Amino acid sequence: MGIFETMLKEGETIFLNEYALDFSFQPKLLLHREKEQFAIANSIVPLFAERTGKNMMVYGRPGIGKTLAVLHVFKELEDEHEEILPIYVNCWQNNSTYKIAIALCEAVNYKFYQNKKTHEIFKDLEEKFNKTPVAFCFDEVDKLEDFDFLYTVLERVYRKTIILISNYKEWFAGLDERIRSRLHPELLEFRDYNADEMKDILTQRKELALKHGAIAEDAFQAIVLHTIAQKDIRAGLHVMRQAAEAAEEASSRIMTTQHVSSVLKKCPKEYAKEPIELDEECRFILEIVKANSGLKIGDLFKKYEDVNGRQSYKTFSRKIQTLAFGSFVSLKRIVGAGGNSTMVYHQNVKRLDEF
Ligand SMILES: Nc1ncnc2c1ncn2[C@@H]1O[C@H](COP(=O)(O)OP(=O)(O)O)[C@@H](O)[C@H]1O
Ligand SMILES: [Mg+2]
Repeated sequence: MGIFETMLKEGETIFLNEYALDFSFQPKLLLHREKEQFAIANSIVPLFAERTGKNMMVYGRPGIGKTLAVLHVFKELEDEHEEILPIYVNCWQNNSTYKIAIALCEAVNYKFYQNKKTHEIFKDLEEKFNKTPVAFCFDEVDKLEDFDFLYTVLERVYRKTIILISNYKEWFAGLDERIRSRLHPELLEFRDYNADEMKDILTQRKELALKHGAIAEDAFQAIVLHTIAQKDIRAGLHVMRQAAEAAEEASSRIMTTQHVSSVLKKCPKEYAKEPIELDEECRFILEIVKANSGLKIGDLFKKYEDVNGRQSYKTFSRKIQTLAFGSFVSLKRIVGAGGNSTMVYHQNVKRLDEF
């Protein structure tokens, strides 16, 4: 290849679809989680037979496909089984009973919750939820500040399956006895991926996100090894994106091991135990998110410009991705008639040893 062929031209990119490297991206094909999906579906099956479903507690370390697996099963319900209503709520973004009540209203498109007290909202919801069987998923439950909503859903919704997702098995033991005994969940552990499985998952993402041939084989292998060491797919997605950006910045059409190592140098040795280090710009942006949690990324960028933020929108949104990787913020992708957008929420970072 001639030297000019290895160089990116002005405005050219090595990405096919950068969004495919987001943690919230849902690939159509979920790899290596057949058994787990089957177990999740099994907890919902009784709802088809006019019975109540089984409840389930899904657990396992971060970044091993728990959210994705449940969302896959829910997507199938949505597309093929209208008689069951799947409702997914992220409890990190909605960490109180009141916020969950609102999230549930939004999930069923119920708009008359303004000025109502939490118990009044639940009264309205109860009526709705008792018309069709409901499969609830409450994700990241270890970030909840109170659990009253769980008690209400357990007591007042008759035909339901409740799936709770947590990174920590111990979380369940700490629950109030009156909830624990009513919930009586089956436990579903997501085991770690082995090296081959991780490689498959990263290969799938590489093909969706980057142009063909945009990553040298040894560079990809370095990303795979890093992911295996971290035991977290998100670590691999993060490095792949950052290294692709490093390649672009160097006007290179191909990501090489050099680009990967320049990124790895900045990565924490043990993600989730050691918080990642934030550069000054990231910290500046984080302060803006703190003051404006729950805004769309475009609106957040305007706030950033208002306080003299100088980076481009592209750089700004990449910094937001870095903050998401470090769990400083959490992102929610919304797909709407007016186009897609991402909402950005501030998170109080909890360390593993706090549980
Ligand atoms: N089996 C899989 N197949 C494809 N992508 C996966 C798989 N498992 C995890 N991922 C990807 O890895 C990232 C982390 O998965 P996620 O479901 O958010 O993990 P968890 O909820 O366990 O923290 C997501 O971007 C997800 O798309
Ligand atoms: Mg998750």
